[in-house]
Amino acid sequence: NLLLSEVEKFEIQSTEQLENFRLDFISRNSKLSTLFDEFKTVPKEQKRTLGQQINVLKQAAEAKFRTKKQEIEDAQDATQGTDLDITLPSSYETLGSLHPVSQVRDEIIQIFERIGFNLSEGPEIELDWYNFTALNFPENHPAREMQDTFFIEKDPDILLRTHTSPVQVRVMKNQKPPIRTLSVGRVFRNETISARSHCMFHQIEGLYVNEGVSFAQLKQTLLYFAKEFFGQHAKIRLRPSYFPFTEPSAEVDVYLGTKTESDYRLTKGTGWLEILGCGMVHPNVLENVNIDSKKYNGFAFGMGIERIALLRYDIPDIRMLFENEMRFLRQF
Ligand code: PHE
Repeated sequence: NLLLSEVEKFEIQSTEQLENFRLDFISRNSKLSTLFDEFKTVPKEQKRTLGQQINVLKQAAEAKFRTKKQEIEDAQDATQGTDLDITLPSSYETLGSLHPVSQVRDEIIQIFERIGFNLSEGPEIELDWYNFTALNFPENHPAREMQDTFFIEKDPDILLRTHTSPVQVRVMKNQKPPIRTLSVGRVFRNETISARSHCMFHQIEGLYVNEGVSFAQLKQTLLYFAKEFFGQHAKIRLRPSYFPFTEPSAEVDVYLGTKTESDYRLTKGTGWLEILGCGMVHPNVLENVNIDSKKYNGFAFGMGIERIALLRYDIPDIRMLFENEMRFLRQF
C-alpha cells in the first residue's frame, strides 16, 4: 500500500522523470521486482493476499507509465509542429499543356478521321524525287523556286522537305487505291522570317484516290472541314490557282463572318481568309507512282497548321509560336 501511494504520487513531466519512474517501478531491478523476490519467501497462507496486492501495484505502475509516455510524446509532437503554418497556401507543380500548334493539329486530324482518313508520316530529310520530281515539278522549272528549298546534298539531291506531299507519294507507292490519307508534319522553306512566315512550319495534307473522284467531293469535304473546325456558320470560296501536282488547282478562302457570328476572335473581324491549297491529282503524279490514271483519279489539299492556329487564337505573329515564351504558352 505504501508503494501504491508512491506510484500514484510520482511526478512525471519529462522524459527524464518517465525514465526514473520506469527504473523505480518497472525495470528488472525496480522496487517491484524486489517485492516479487520477497514474495517467494512469504509463508503459504499469506501468498494469496500479497500476490493480489502486488498485481494491483504492477498494473497501476504499468498503466501510469503508458499514459504518461503517451502524454509526453503528444506534447513533443505539438511543439515540433509550431513552425508549420497550416494557413499558408500549399505548393504545387503546374501541369504542362499541349502547344497550340499541337492542339490545332490534333483537332484537324480528328475531323478528317471521322470521314475515314488515316494518318501517314514520312522523313523530314527527303530525296528530290519524292519532294519534286514525282509530284510533276519538271527539272529546272521555275515551279521549284516556288518552294525556296534548303538543300543538304547535290547529286543525288537531298533536301529538307518543303511540303508534306512527298509523304503522299510514299503512301501511293506502297498502297493500292482506294487511299484516304492525311500526311502531317514539319516542313522547311528558305524564306525570310517575318510575322507572317517562318522557315519552319507544319502542314497537314489530305489525299483521296479512288475511281470516279469528283471536284464536287473535294469541295464538299473542305466545306465539312471548315464548318467542323470554325463553326457551322463558316463558308468557303475556291479561287483558281496553280500547283504542278494538281489540275485543276484552287486556293480556298474561309469566311467566318463578323466577330459576333464567329466563335473565334479574329485579327481581321470580317472578310475572306486564305487557309489552304487544293486540286485534282495530276495524272502524271499517279503514273509516277504506278497508279493507272485512266482508271483512278483523286483530290488533294494542304494547309499550314500555324496559319490556322494564328487565325483561331488571334495571334498576331507566327514567331510567337516558336519562341517558347512561358507567359505565352501558359495561355493555352
Ligand atoms: N503542297 C502544297 C504546298 O505545300 C499544298 C497543296 C497540297 C496544294 C495539295 C494542293 C494540293 O503549298
